[in-house]
Amino acid sequence: MGLTFEVKHKNPQTKARAGKITTAHGEIKTPIFMPVGTVGTVKAVHQRELKEDINAEIILGNTYHLYLRPGTEILEKAGGLHKFNGWDRPILTDSGGYQVFSLANNRKIKEEGVTFRSHIDGSKHLFTPEKVMDIERSIGADIIMAFDECPPYPSDYTYAKNSMHLTHRWLQRCVDRLNETEPLYGYHQALFPIVQGSTYRDLRTQSAETIASHNCEGNAIGGLSVGEPAEMMYEHTELVCSILPEDKPRYLMGVGTPANILENIALGVDMFDCVMPTRQARHGMVFTTQGIINLKNKKWEDDFSPLDPGLEGYSSSFYTKAYLRHLFKAGEALGGMAASVHNLSFYLWLVREARQHIIDGDFREWKNAIIPTLMQRL
Ligand code: GUN
Repeated sequence: MGLTFEVKHKNPQTKARAGKITTAHGEIKTPIFMPVGTVGTVKAVHQRELKEDINAEIILGNTYHLYLRPGTEILEKAGGLHKFNGWDRPILTDSGGYQVFSLANNRKIKEEGVTFRSHIDGSKHLFTPEKVMDIERSIGADIIMAFDECPPYPSDYTYAKNSMHLTHRWLQRCVDRLNETEPLYGYHQALFPIVQGSTYRDLRTQSAETIASHNCEGNAIGGLSVGEPAEMMYEHTELVCSILPEDKPRYLMGVGTPANILENIALGVDMFDCVMPTRQARHGMVFTTQGIINLKNKKWEDDFSPLDPGLEGYSSSFYTKAYLRHLFKAGEALGGMAASVHNLSFYLWLVREARQHIIDGDFREWKNAIIPTLMQRL
C-alpha cells in the first residue's frame, strides 16, 4: 500500500494543519520534527531513547553518507536500514542532493549527474538520478527524496534558473527509474520531489507548479535556510505552500530554530528536519521551555534545578544544569548524550504542542506568545 495523508484539523487564522501520514512502518502525526540520523544513527542517542524518551515517529538517513559507508552491499545484506540499525518506525532518506554540495570535494555538475570525491577517503564517484534511486532502494526508507541541486545563497538569477530546470529534469529521471524498479524489501517507498528556485518568486512559482504536476505522495521545499534572512525564507515557504497541493504532506528541508518551525507550521508545512538540536547539544547549547541555555556559562555552575522543569522526560528532569555543565567542562561523553536526548525531546514536545493548539483552535495566539520565551538566551 502507498503512503497516505489525512488532514484532520485546520487552524482558521493561519495555514497550519494537523494531520496523519501512514507509511509501511507506521503512522506519523503532523506537524512533525524528524531527528537526523545521517549515517544510520542519531548522533549520541540510543534507539531505545529515541523511541521511549523522545518518542520520535520518524528519523532521517542520508544517501550520500550511507552509500560511502557502510555501502549498499552491506545494507542489502542486512535487509535494509531498518534491519541494520534496529529502528522499526518510519525512515526518510535525503538524496545526497544537498550533502554532495556541502561536503564532497571536487564536485562537477553535468546533465548526467554529479561527480565528486568522497570527504572520507578522496575516492571518486558519480551520482546520477538513476544511481541515487537505486541506492535509496538499497537503503529501503519509507520516504525517499528525489535527487536535486540545492543552489547556494545568494545565487544569481541565471544560475538559479538553470539549476531549477536541471532539478526538474533529474526528477523525471528519478520517477522513471522508480517505475522501472521494485522495492527490495517488499514494502512501498514514497518519492518526494523537491521545489527549488532559490530566492526568486517567479522561479519558486514555476518550480512548485512543476513539482505539483508530478502528483507524488508528498512534496518538499529545498534550497531554504541556506543563509538567507528568516523573513525571506517565510516569504518563499508561503508562496510555495500556496501552490503545492493541500492533500499531500509538505516537508521543509533543513529547518530550523524553534521559531522557524512554528512560523513555517503557520504557513502550511507539515514536516521538518534539522541537525540543530543534536549538533547544538554536543556543544552544550540546550533549548528549553524557558529559553536557550549555554551550559558552558559559569552562571550554571551551582544551579541545581532540573535542565528543563517544563518537560517531563528523563533527560530533561533528572539531570541538573550544574551537573550537565560539569560534564561538559570535564569533556565527558554523557554531557552530549544527555543534552541530545533533551534537545530532541524539546523539539518533539514543540511540534506536539503545536499540533494540540491547532486541534484546540488557538495555535496562532499560542505561537505568538511562546516564540519570544523560547528564543531568549537565559
Ligand atoms: N536539506 C536541506 N536543504 C536541502 C535541499 O535543498 N535539497 C536536499 N536534497 N536536501 C536538503
